[in-house]
Amino acid sequence: MKIPIAKNVDWVGKIDWELRKFHGEEYSAHRGSSYNAYLVRDEKIALIDTVWGPFAKEFVRNLQHEIDLGKIDYVIANHAETDHSGALPELMRYIPDKPVYCTANGVKSLKGHYHQDWNFQIVKTGDKLSLGKKELVFIEAPMLHWPDSMMEYLTGDAILFSNDAFGQHIASERIFNDQVVQSELDEEAIKYYANILTPFSPLVTKKINEVVGLNLPLQTICPSHGVIWRDNPLQIVQRYLRWADNYQENQITILYDTMWDGTRKLAEGIAQGITESDGDVAVKLFNIARSDKNDVITEVFKSKAILLGSPTINKSFLSSVALILDMMAGLKFKNKKASTFGCYGWSGEAVKRMHEDLAKAGFSMVGEGLKTLWEPGDEELTQARAFGETFVSLVR
Ligand code: FEO
Repeated sequence: MKIPIAKNVDWVGKIDWELRKFHGEEYSAHRGSSYNAYLVRDEKIALIDTVWGPFAKEFVRNLQHEIDLGKIDYVIANHAETDHSGALPELMRYIPDKPVYCTANGVKSLKGHYHQDWNFQIVKTGDKLSLGKKELVFIEAPMLHWPDSMMEYLTGDAILFSNDAFGQHIASERIFNDQVVQSELDEEAIKYYANILTPFSPLVTKKINEVVGLNLPLQTICPSHGVIWRDNPLQIVQRYLRWADNYQENQITILYDTMWDGTRKLAEGIAQGITESDGDVAVKLFNIARSDKNDVITEVFKSKAILLGSPTINKSFLSSVALILDMMAGLKFKNKKASTFGCYGWSGEAVKRMHEDLAKAGFSMVGEGLKTLWEPGDEELTQARAFGETFVSLVR
């Protein structure tokens, strides 16, 4: 199966409707995904990326319907993570001597994955590969999102093959951005950025400014997952610039776990206090033990402030809280305020410990948090509403 992208440029990847978890079990893919590979035919022929390993034979078989594999002159490996390089071993069995273009780190990583000494050709930013009338211009993109990542720009057709950057985990038989439900595309694009690219935001800004500074015409952005940006491709570039710049909306997200519903009642009381005292701010509550962790992270990414709640167990907080704290610390959120809350029966360390861990994760802490003894009654729920009112006034 091929889908034309431009004259002599075809999508030859794999749409994975079944995918529900990506990066092992780490990333939820509610809408599946795709592994985008591209065939560029000029006087010379280049294959850009492959697909995930389980689809290797299918990919190579399909490719053989499109082209005699021996006619491929250049293999471009933008990134060694196996969702893109997984079919290389199968492909290279047919064309073992063909050059594989990648970064210096790409060589290390591809060798590390496949233990093969293919004909690697190392490229750097600005290096060009002539295909005849058109050429590929390489752009290293370290940490977007791995040290080996790179992109390339195809002159003539003005296509940026951006690999993981600007991607989204969406399966769609219609592969262009103007052909899918826009709200679904928006959700998956921001989730992808929030969960994968947030820690590299300073590098995102720098790389985009570098590429924009080249003043190249841009017709299409072809990422390696999800839809291709052909309708106003700069829209996703502009969104990335906003997301990379300490992004926040007028939203407060309340994350909590609860054992016997006491901390849930506090969460709802706090939400009521916030809502009653600020008519504009969006307030969302998540029981994090029962919610998709990547969706929760996306909501944290969109928030100007969060509240984290847990009862105390074993002088600490519940395990779902430990997980989300670790994820938030790794993602290095910036410019977000936070506080903590929870009810307790005996020792009551959770609120203080969450407070300390959020501060270590880079959140600006507001107040000391709300800690109430036993099951919340009317008095404690009044305290929770007041806590919400004070909190929203401090994070305006
Ligand atoms: Fe889509 Fe970093 O792999």
